Amino acid sequence: MDNNPIGVFDSGLGGLTVLKKIIEILPNEKYIYYADTDNVPYGTKPKEEVKIYIEKAIKFLISKNVKAIVIACNTATSIAVNDLRDKYDIPIIGIEPAVKPAIEKRNGKRVLIMATPTTIREEKLQNLVKKLNVFEEVDLIDMPKLVEFAERMEFNSSEVKKYIEDRLKKYNLNNYSTLVLGCTHFPLFKETLLQVFSNEILIIDGSQGVANRLKDILENKNLLGNNKLQINYYNSGKIANKLYIEKYNRIIN
Ligand code: DGL
Repeated sequence: MDNNPIGVFDSGLGGLTVLKKIIEILPNEKYIYYADTDNVPYGTKPKEEVKIYIEKAIKFLISKNVKAIVIACNTATSIAVNDLRDKYDIPIIGIEPAVKPAIEKRNGKRVLIMATPTTIREEKLQNLVKKLNVFEEVDLIDMPKLVEFAERMEFNSSEVKKYIEDRLKKYNLNNYSTLVLGCTHFPLFKETLLQVFSNEILIIDGSQGVANRLKDILENKNLLGNNKLQINYYNSGKIANKLYIEKYNRIIN
């Protein structure tokens, strides 16, 4: 048993969609959620710059004695997870677009993968698509503005809908059966995405997989806690203020 906290990290509030799934299966833990609000968004910034932000966040979480870290950000995972695992001894769990389950469920139709520009460009996703040998069946599209909308807690506005429709204009939506959300901010737009696809789409994200993996690792290493659930929110290393705490709790609850 280990009652130290679990660190969960994202560029902003998107990682809360992952934390929510984690809490469902690991309710007896203390969590430290680190949103890098000073530097969000990550997905449109140069990789070397973002690596510095990630390093700072991880160092902060380690200084809080976390027993494991979940990088609840596809962008950060794709550019830094291997280096971080080499560098630190505690378990580090990343997230990547759930391409494999989407392929298994596509029913002869195409799969659309939405992510940030960096995640789409990076080797990690490109290699995954290559490994599964599915270049012919998938399309990749970046949706950077959704991160900005999400940070403003704007999920269902007509501007959001218009942005999604504009980005998808050149695709024939009838060709797709499955949509992979490869950015942890994107599940917050599920309703609007379903509207745009007239409900004719299966939406898949990797958060449940991450939660299950974290639980397995903690179980195997005998690191599960028996705490009363507690979440402490930090914005770029500073305790989040009341407004942010309310905002974050709205997503978690
Ligand atoms: N939530 C993040 C992801 O999963 C990053 C979004 C951003 O900061 O651009 O990719």
